[in-house]
Amino acid sequence: MNIDYKLLMDKAKEASKMSYSPFSKFAVGAGVLAGSGKIYSGCNIENSSFGMTICAERCAIFKAISEGEKEILAVAIYSPNEDDCYPCGACRQVMYEFQGDSEVEVITEEKDNLNVRKMSDFLPFGFKI
Ligand code: THU
Repeated sequence: MNIDYKLLMDKAKEASKMSYSPFSKFAVGAGVLAGSGKIYSGCNIENSSFGMTICAERCAIFKAISEGEKEILAVAIYSPNEDDCYPCGACRQVMYEFQGDSEVEVITEEKDNLNVRKMSDFLPFGFKI
């Protein structure tokens, strides 16, 4: 599948505007391209009980899976607070869980340029049952 990286990043940027992050003030948005070709987006949603916070990537991936998607092909991550914002360890594990036959592509933005990397750059020797 030909992946429109810019479109995916635009969805991540749009979603970051919905971030509920009053505690960290660190907004994040994610755009996820799922196996069907559909794009899902998500933002981080914090909670007064801090551990209940969900990251933008997992928000978007869980939306996709709960809509019937079986795998994810690419994930774009954006934060207005940080150049080249990377996924946290928990999100890497969740991305790996839903990786299909081809490696998930991870898109970040650095100084207005898109970086496209492979899942294995972020999580080598991933764990899956
Ligand atoms: N956050 C994400 O949304 N994605 C990540 O991969 C890193 C962290 C959020 C969680 C929390 O709301 C804020 O960023 C600061 O950690």
